[in-house]
Parts: sequence; C-alpha cells; structure tokens
Amino acid sequence: MKKKVIITRNILPDGLSLLESHGIAFDVNLSEKPLSYEELMEKACNADAIISMLSDNIDQRFLESNPHLKVIANYAVGFNNIDLMTARALNIRIGNTPDVLTEATAETALGLMIAAGRNFKGANSAVNDGRWKNWGPKDHLGFALRGKTLGVIGLGRIGMRLAEMAASAFKMQIIYTANSTKENTFGAKIVSLDELLSQSDYISIHAPLNASTKHLIGKDQFQKMRPHSVLVNTARGEIIDQDALIWALKEKLIFAAGLDVTEPEPLPLSSELLKLENVFILPHIGSATFEARREMSILCAKNIIAGLNGENLISEVK
Ligand code: DGY
Repeated sequence: MKKKVIITRNILPDGLSLLESHGIAFDVNLSEKPLSYEELMEKACNADAIISMLSDNIDQRFLESNPHLKVIANYAVGFNNIDLMTARALNIRIGNTPDVLTEATAETALGLMIAAGRNFKGANSAVNDGRWKNWGPKDHLGFALRGKTLGVIGLGRIGMRLAEMAASAFKMQIIYTANSTKENTFGAKIVSLDELLSQSDYISIHAPLNASTKHLIGKDQFQKMRPHSVLVNTARGEIIDQDALIWALKEKLIFAAGLDVTEPEPLPLSSELLKLENVFILPHIGSATFEARREMSILCAKNIIAGLNGENLISEVK
C-alpha cells in the first residue's frame, strides 16, 4: 500500500511532484484556512507522515495520539510549534527547512530596517489619507543605515546573512549575541545583550523561540536602548514582550519597530500596535519568495521520503 502524507496547506507544487515520483500519496488541504487541531488529528490517524506549517500545533497530545507517524516535516526553519521531547520519545522524526530561506528572511529583515528607520508607514499613510499637501523639508524624517551599528541578537544563518548585507552594502558595524564566537569576515564582535542594547542603532532579532528567549526583550531591555534605535523582529513574536514594546514606542524610548512576527498571529485589528505610526508590520512573510518557498517545498518532500525510508532526514531537528 502507498504511504500517505497529510500536507496541512497548499504549498508550491515542486515537492508534491517529488513525492509523486516516489509513489507517495498525499492529501493537501486546498482551503485558504489552516486545518483546525481536531481536523488535523482526524486526518493524521491514517497517515504515515505530515508536512506541517509553523501555525500547526503539534503538541504532546497530538503526538501521543499519533505514535504511528514516521516523520513530520515542518515547512519552516523554526520548530517551536512542535513538542520535540515527545516526538523524540515516540521516535517520530522531525524535519525543518534551514538554509533555503536564509536569503529571503535576511532580505525581509533588511527591508524592515529601512521601512521602520525611514518612517515608511507614517509617510505612506500621509499619501493614502490625503495629508500629502506639499513637499516639506522636515516631513517624515528618518535615520540612515550607512555607518551605523547593527546589533544582531542570535548570529545564526539568517542573522549572519543580514550582518553580511548590512556590512557590505551600508558599511554598518556589527555587534552580536550568540552562544559562542562566530567566525566572520566583516569584524563583527560578540557582546553581552546589555552591551548590544545600549550600543546599537539598529537591532535585529534572529534567535529561536524557546523558554530562555520568550519575552527576552521587555521593559528593562527597552530602557537600555538608544532613543533613535530601530528594533526589527523576523524571528518569533513571543521573543518581544509586546505590551512593553507598545509602551516603549509610545514613550519614544526607541524610534521605531519593524515586525514580521507578532504575538498572536494574525494580529487582531484591535491591537494597539496598529494605531502607532512608528511601527511597520508584515504578516510573517520572511520566507515568502517564490525561490525560497519552492526550495522549502522540495526540502520538505525530501525529508518525508528519507523518513519514510527509515533514513536520516536531509535536515533533521534533533
Ligand atoms: C520560519 O521558517 O521559521 C520563519 O518564520 C520564516 O519566516
């Protein structure tokens, strides 16, 4: 009998062709909505594997109800939506999609640095609201990137690529936090989090979400930042205490924020964040280039094929 994979959203087709060519059957959720927890639970009971999205909650109850699953390939580099300990105990292999989305996500972070630092939201809303009456020498002023200091929280693959872009294109000085010193060609220096907060003009978050990074940036941390600084987050919304961010933006403790991730997602229309002009928000599109999403589709399929064959995944979360 053919092996069967549940694919929780309609991903780009390249990976599907690969699964097909390996004789693997799949059931794709073609709707515009994620499957509910119960819907996924129901589908998983006669499947061998899942391609999951970062919005699917693969928790202990889900995994313990489906111990027959061989592999779950997350269509994301982050895997905070999956209970790894339980998966490990049940011998369910977990895959993710590093590398192939590095460029796209670093580009998103750089875009947010520019959009927030140059006040694109306020300027664009003036155009849309009919407040653009004439050209003003002091209208919509923002800060340049060139020669400034960029603090990267978590110099992993994406943080490193952003740092390279910022150093080469804008001659930015790079400081970073990480568990260990990272070799680099542009003179980036490792510092403590407090040093990074107080010395950076731009701060970009690239850490994984886990117990030690949840609300890593709160009121105390905002108080250490420079008043002209710009905070960017393309990692996970929960790394910033969002109430503290709203407070810091209102009190002008920082100049602006650029967010690709929020807590929760989607951000409700009632969120205070949406009322502020000095925050530029995207709907978690860090990896949303045709190129990255195609490669993610292929990598997920390769992880599924390897896992169903009882082999190590191409990219396995251990
Ligand atoms: C991921 O894949 O985990 C990131 O959120 C991409 O934006």
